[in-house]
Amino acid sequence: ARLVVLVSGSGSNLQALLDACREPGYGAEVVAVGADRGGIAGLERAEAVGVPTFTHRVKDFPTREAWDTAMTETVAGHSPDLVVSAGFLKILGDVFLERFAGRYINTHNSLLPSFPGMRGPAAALEYGVKVTGATLFLCDAGVDTGQIIAQVAVPVHDDDTVETLTERIKVAERRQLVDTVGRMVREGWRVDGRRVVIG
Ligand code: GRF
Repeated sequence: ARLVVLVSGSGSNLQALLDACREPGYGAEVVAVGADRGGIAGLERAEAVGVPTFTHRVKDFPTREAWDTAMTETVAGHSPDLVVSAGFLKILGDVFLERFAGRYINTHNSLLPSFPGMRGPAAALEYGVKVTGATLFLCDAGVDTGQIIAQVAVPVHDDDTVETLTERIKVAERRQLVDTVGRMVREGWRVDGRRVVIG
């Protein structure tokens, strides 16, 4: 199966996918990596292993819709079976969402629907929950509101800081992403209302 991965930052989730794709039998390859900004480690990780990259910055387009259309066309040009947002910090618009309906996924660092948005670990810590985690879900037009594909629980420790909790979540999040994408591409999946069923 062909994966296009979208990144905005360090790309540690991308790296986990790149590593998994080298395993015989994983069932997927990363055919392109896209970004909404330059100068990020995520792009360097792709370039280091010879995966083609592209960068579309919103500010280089006359409108948000024009950016959305460019993202759609470039991603579609790589004929992906699955598009993975991995630390990609933009919400894509209707053109993109319709083209890749049911096969555009994102990973978030909380147990949704708790703590959506940019501050997942910090918000969990401030609230005082004892368990948080990571969620893999289908993207829709909202912020972290799409159908849930997989979740993993991560304990909050009494002495956690935002940094230690963020790191503990990322370890579980990467494993979940790799395991779940692998199962999706090998076994298939279907969407039934709010429920996503693999296999
Ligand atoms: C992930 O924890 C994701 O949930 C959050 O940002 C992180 C992305 O990290 N939105 P990376 O770029 O994959 O290293």
